[in-house]
Amino acid sequence: MSRKLFTAMGAAAALSLAACGGEGAGSGSSGGGGASAPEDLSIGVSMPTQTSERWIADGNSVKEQLEAEGYEVKLQFANDDIPTQSQQVDQMITQGVNALIIAAIDGTALSTQLQAAADADIPVISYDRLIRDSENVNFYVSFDNFKVGVAQGNALLTGLGIANDDAPDGTATGPFNIELFAGSLDDNNAFFFFEGAMSVLQPKIDDGTLVVKSGQTDIEQVATLRWQQETAQKRMEDLLTGSYADGTKVNGVLSPYDGLSRGIITALQNAGYGPTTEGGANPMPIVTGQDAEIASVKLIADGVQSSTIFKDTRLLAEQAVVAAKAFLEGNEPEANNTEDYDNGVKIIPSYLLPVETVFADDIEPVLIESEYWTAEEVEAGQAAD
Ligand code: GAL
Repeated sequence: MSRKLFTAMGAAAALSLAACGGEGAGSGSSGGGGASAPEDLSIGVSMPTQTSERWIADGNSVKEQLEAEGYEVKLQFANDDIPTQSQQVDQMITQGVNALIIAAIDGTALSTQLQAAADADIPVISYDRLIRDSENVNFYVSFDNFKVGVAQGNALLTGLGIANDDAPDGTATGPFNIELFAGSLDDNNAFFFFEGAMSVLQPKIDDGTLVVKSGQTDIEQVATLRWQQETAQKRMEDLLTGSYADGTKVNGVLSPYDGLSRGIITALQNAGYGPTTEGGANPMPIVTGQDAEIASVKLIADGVQSSTIFKDTRLLAEQAVVAAKAFLEGNEPEANNTEDYDNGVKIIPSYLLPVETVFADDIEPVLIESEYWTAEEVEAGQAAD
C-alpha cells in the first residue's frame, strides 16, 4: 500500500469535514463559550514521554499543525509518570484550554481530570491510546491496532520464510523457536497488538511450526510495563539464560515496539547472536517492531532488526487536528469506526489510519520517499533535529 493512499485518505477526511464544518465556524461551542476565532482558542496537548522519539514527533506534529490553523497550543510531555500527566492535564484545564488531545500513559488513570474537562465543556480527543473507564472521552484517533498486530505476526512469519497472507510464497516449515513480547498492560493498544499477532501465530504454534520454548504465551507473562527497553532486555536475558541455557537457538522474537526490539537485540548480541541475519552459526533471530523509530530503521538497513510497522505520525496528528477543529466549530468529527473501541463505559467513535510493514527493501520507497526520514538520517541512525 502506498503513501499516496494515506495522503488521499487524510485529504478526503479533511475535505469532507471542511464541507460539513464550514457553517459552524466561529460558533465556539466549547471551553466556556463565547470565543470563536482560532486565535482566541487554545488546545492542550498531553503526550506520555520524551524517551521515545515517536512521541516527540507526535507532539511536535500536532503542535505545528494546530498552530498552522491559528490555535494556541499548550504541549506537555509527562515523563511516563502518571501523577505528572494528571497534574499537567489539570493545569491545562485550569488555564482554560478549549479542547484536549491526550495520549495517556495509563489509559485508566485520568478519570478525575476528564470529569473536570466535561464539567468545563472541554472536548477530549484520545490520541493513539484509548482512554478507558471514562464517559468523558469524545473521540479517538489511532491506527488500526488489531491490524498492526496481524502485520507483526505476518512479518515474523515472512522473516522466518513461512508462508502467510503477506508472503504466500514462503516454503519454510520449521520448527522454529520463537519468543513473544507484549507492551504495557495499562495501554489498551497492547492487547490489540498481541491479539492481532496471535491470530496469525497461534495456528502455527498449534501445528508445531513455531515453538515457544519458554512456554510463556499469555499476555500477562510477556507484557512489558511502560514499554521500557531495559525491561525487555532483562526479560530476553532471562529467557536466554533460562530456557535456552542448553544451547538451543532462538529463531524469532515477536516484539510490538521498536524500543523493546532494541532491548531484545542488545540481549541477543550480548549472548553472541548476530550481527546480521545472514550466515554464521549464531544468526540474529528475526525480530519485529513498530513505529519506524530511526535507530531501528538503521538496524533494519543493517540487517540486524528484521522489520517494523510504519505508522505515519504526521497523518495521525492531522486527524487529531481535524477532530479538534470539528469540535471547536460545533460539529462532530467524522468517524470511520464506531464498533471496535469500547472503553469500558461506551464505544468511542474512532478514526483509524492504515499501517504499513517495513523490511529493509521498503525503507527507501516507504520511509525516505515520503520524507518521514531522510537517507542521511537512516545512515546516521538518528534524527537530524
Ligand atoms: C503504543 C503505541 C505504539 C508504541 C507504544 C510505545 O501505545 O501505539 O505505537 O509507540 O505505545 O510507545
